[in-house]
Amino acid sequence: MKKVGIIGSGTMGIGIAQLAATAHCEVFLYDANFSQTEKSLKNLKTTLNKLAEKGKISTEKSLEIFNQIKPCQEIKELKDCDLVIEAIIENKEIKQKVFAELETYVSEKCVLGSNTSSISITSLQAELKNPERFIGIHFFNPAPLMPLVEVIPGLLTENNLAQEIVDLMKSWGKSPIIAKDVPGFIVNRIARPFYGEALRIVEENLATPEQVDDAMKSFGNFKMGPFELMDLIGIDVNFSVTKTVYQDYFFDPKYKPSLLQQRMNEAKLLGRKTGKGFYDYSEQRQESRAKNQYLKTENQQLITDNQIFMRIISMLINEAVEAKRLGIANDEDIETAMQKGVNYPKGLLNWGKEIGYPKISEVLQNLYEEYQEERYRQSPLLRKLN
Ligand SMILES: NC(=O)c1ccc[n+]([C@@H]2O[C@H](COP(=O)([O-])OP(=O)(O)OC[C@H]3O[C@@H](n4cnc5c(N)ncnc54)[C@H](O)[C@@H]3O)[C@@H](O)[C@H]2O)c1
Repeated sequence: MKKVGIIGSGTMGIGIAQLAATAHCEVFLYDANFSQTEKSLKNLKTTLNKLAEKGKISTEKSLEIFNQIKPCQEIKELKDCDLVIEAIIENKEIKQKVFAELETYVSEKCVLGSNTSSISITSLQAELKNPERFIGIHFFNPAPLMPLVEVIPGLLTENNLAQEIVDLMKSWGKSPIIAKDVPGFIVNRIARPFYGEALRIVEENLATPEQVDDAMKSFGNFKMGPFELMDLIGIDVNFSVTKTVYQDYFFDPKYKPSLLQQRMNEAKLLGRKTGKGFYDYSEQRQESRAKNQYLKTENQQLITDNQIFMRIISMLINEAVEAKRLGIANDEDIETAMQKGVNYPKGLLNWGKEIGYPKISEVLQNLYEEYQEERYRQSPLLRKLN
């Protein structure tokens, strides 16, 4: 697969384009908004120049990568590709429309992949003329740096295709794992409470985003706190993943989206990409990590850093244990996924053992008793683990 088409040149599309070009593929980059492609290519040029200046890659290599990427004004310019990866807005109907159009141009042999974070692969492929050549190829942000790729065959995907894509991703230098086509796949399902519980703590005025981030970094050794990470991912993207996982699990209260996140979206405070999210990234900011003036949370922290950490980590470990119980992935892949996809400092199953599963169970039981909410129910497997 040497000719690779990328649809969508936003955060993920340009990263995947860089990756494919680095692996010597000829890349055709298309976005409905051509000025976005121009902007992303300009940023990529700056990134590659910086890598060359730092000696991470040679100047020739940086030029070679850049020249391998052909900006396209029309989707039909992707017609000769062997593989097309879509990375457009997280909306099922829009994605289905784009694939239906793409199918009219590409050959029957061309493999079609979606980088969707949460939309069912089966639902995207079901509408196609040739659904068997369709598969989920889910990269993590930033795509050139994060090693994990989830390869997700849908119910109608041809049997050998997942392994072919796994081999291709390995040849691109990635660490691929095969995931089941369940809402959120592996990482985005298990990681939901990292964001959801953090948002809940802030919504309850127990602590500010900074305090929650600091607690997770100091007690859990996470490289980024939940709010810093949401600002990086894009609050709209993160919110849309949460909503899809919630709906697709038939409104399981565990995954209930946050009103605060909804308001952030309505205000277009989407994180780094808009200059403001939970933090202020604008050039006029006073401090390096100024608090967002729109978030009127009290500054007084009502729970300890350890309580914040234990509440969030217990929810995460419970999700990992439930994913194990349901066979969504094997133990090794569950551990790899969270470390290589979202940079967690440890695998969650191992972390559970370290803290002690009975302790995790106790934290969740206390939360359940306090809130009387299904949200805090324990995986039936959790109590059986020691
Ligand atoms: N941001 C992340 O951390 C992340 C991580 C993994 C996967 N994803 C997934 O990748 C996809 C893209 O996310 P992103 O963060 O790059 O979004 P983004 O908003 O940065 O970029 C999306 C791009 O798609 C373009 N687009 C929209 N509709 C289009 C259409 N009909 N045809 C062609 N181009 C169109 C937009 O102009 C935009 O440039 C989503 O499915 C998202 O769930 C995102």
